Amino acid sequence: MNLRVGIVGFGCMGGTHYNCWRALPGVKVTAVCDIDERAFAALRPKGNIGTMAGVVEIEGVRLFRSLDSMLEADVVDAVSIATPSDTHAALACTALRAGVHVLCEKPMSLDVASCNEMIKAASAARRVLMVAHCIRFWPEYVVACDLVRGGRYGTVVAATFRRMGAKPTWAKDSWFADEKRSGGMLIDLHIHDTDFIRYLFGMPRAVCVHGASNHVFARYDYGDGPLVTAEASWAMTSCYGFEMSFCITLERAVLVYDNRRSPTLTVYPADGAPFSPPRAKGDGYSSEIAHFAALVKGKRVTPVVPSEEARDTVRICLVEKEALKRREKMPLGVATAKKRSAAKPRTEDRRNRLPQKAT
Ligand SMILES: NC(=O)c1ccc[n+]([C@@H]2O[C@H](COP(=O)([O-])OP(=O)(O)OC[C@H]3O[C@@H](n4cnc5c(N)ncnc54)[C@H](O)[C@@H]3O)[C@@H](O)[C@H]2O)c1
Repeated sequence: MNLRVGIVGFGCMGGTHYNCWRALPGVKVTAVCDIDERAFAALRPKGNIGTMAGVVEIEGVRLFRSLDSMLEADVVDAVSIATPSDTHAALACTALRAGVHVLCEKPMSLDVASCNEMIKAASAARRVLMVAHCIRFWPEYVVACDLVRGGRYGTVVAATFRRMGAKPTWAKDSWFADEKRSGGMLIDLHIHDTDFIRYLFGMPRAVCVHGASNHVFARYDYGDGPLVTAEASWAMTSCYGFEMSFCITLERAVLVYDNRRSPTLTVYPADGAPFSPPRAKGDGYSSEIAHFAALVKGKRVTPVVPSEEARDTVRICLVEKEALKRREKMPLGVATAKKRSAAKPRTEDRRNRLPQKAT
């Protein structure tokens, strides 16, 4: 039987999810919900990455003006939540409590307490909750992860990530500009790199952030481990376009990615000529949605985005915001890290752990 899917919030990302779901076999998009009916007429989603732009066909799909009415109609088994970030927690908890699986856009929520509520609601309802951290699925980032974790080129010495664009202007009510609704640039945009850093290197001990609210330089303290930094901006001019990039320096190779270069990803090994490694076709959105569908269908796959990690990412970003405000290095629960190391490490932590001595 087809998995029945609904989209909650039909703006830029709702349209992207819609197109990805429609391309997936064994799925029927049965419903779309938006509080603003103009959304149903806006058939051309735009986004900062832009890979999924195109006409959205909405025939054969029931349209609703609220999540409650969509749930009452009993037409969905799972939903993609792609509404302004301050609404994620309440909508996700409502859907989960109604027995519906939830794929929720990033950020999971704007505070840790409501992330915990979401985790509790998913566990009580025994439903899948996944935060759409698309960068964990983005082909070049997946290759970089594999190369780092595979150990072929030694340990990571340093890694730097960049995410640069102009302030988002596509939202009808300009909610991105309202920090109470979006969390601001750090939680809306920079979170992609924070999450990937947390995924690849584990929880940092502390963070140090310089800059202004619209342009930051962040450094993640991994003790004697790798030197990890990230730069993010909403202060670029619109003709600059959108850049996401990284440079990961290992002991015996350098991995360089830039979405605006061709080829996008190049490995510069210590021995031999530079090369562009093979990577999966498509983008992170389609892969994350296929992964979520596999989890919902009960396939034996290891979750790529455990909700506790998505919550940790929100926590790191909040501490980064505080570090920026106070102009101080802020710790991230060293006590927890100590407690953890005394216990048997979880498999994923063993996999993530990098040697303490960087050369
Ligand atoms: N993963 C990514 O690359 C990426 C990119 C852009 C945005 N996002 C995230 O996706 C989410 C949505 O962003 P967007 O750019 O699509 O915003 P958007 O403004 O384009 O679309 C949001 C839509 O949600 C609707 N909406 C608001 N409240 C609602 C509610 N209670 N119920 C139903 N619909 C409601 C609005 O009317 C609007 O149509 C945000 O959390 C944002 O941070 C992720």
